[in-house]
Amino acid sequence: MLKVLVAYATKHQSAQEIAAAIGDQLRAAGLDADVRPVDQVTDLSAYQAVVLGSAVYAGQWQGDAAAFLTSRQAELAARPVWLFSSGPTGEGDPLELLQGWKLPEKLKPVADQIQPRDIALFHGRIDPQKMNFLERMIIKGVKAPVGDFRDWDAIHEWARGIAQALMTEPAP
Ligand SMILES: Cc1cc2nc3c(=O)[nH]c(=O)nc-3n(C[C@H](O)[C@H](O)[C@H](O)COP(=O)(O)O)c2cc1C
Repeated sequence: MLKVLVAYATKHQSAQEIAAAIGDQLRAAGLDADVRPVDQVTDLSAYQAVVLGSAVYAGQWQGDAAAFLTSRQAELAARPVWLFSSGPTGEGDPLELLQGWKLPEKLKPVADQIQPRDIALFHGRIDPQKMNFLERMIIKGVKAPVGDFRDWDAIHEWARGIAQALMTEPAP
């Protein structure tokens, strides 16, 4: 059975929940999936494919996800890889909300080397109860919409697409 790593970086758990949902969909499709915080991933040799995602803060991925993408570039390039960022809050297409932004600019050269099968941008969640004082001030300052805007249908559909790709075109 193909084994897929779903690695994520989060500050306030919403990207973790997205990763868990992706893992559930992959398993439901008959794949073996491990969902792990990216800073706990050491060995990639057991995995035939990788999904890597991060929460976005101030236009950047979390440091551990960015470091993983960069430092494991060669191993990732040797496998089918899918990336996701999360994300903007507010109604409407997340890509329109961020004017087409999907990945931090500084990670694009690494992504170009890895050639991910896809890069998704998902809505995120802003829960002021979970934020520290500074985060609450920033959110207020930029008038970011507060709430949980994650689109589970879009997340599930994306994960099913990954499963389908892996089932029909297994990794070497
Ligand atoms: C201080 C702060 C800065 C943020 N900056 C961005 C940003 O630059 N781009 C974006 O799309 N979302 C931004 N967000 C929204 C987060 O990406 C969103 O809340 C996400 O779901 C958080 O994921 P997490 O719960 O996994 O940490 C920001 C949120 C906070 C609190």
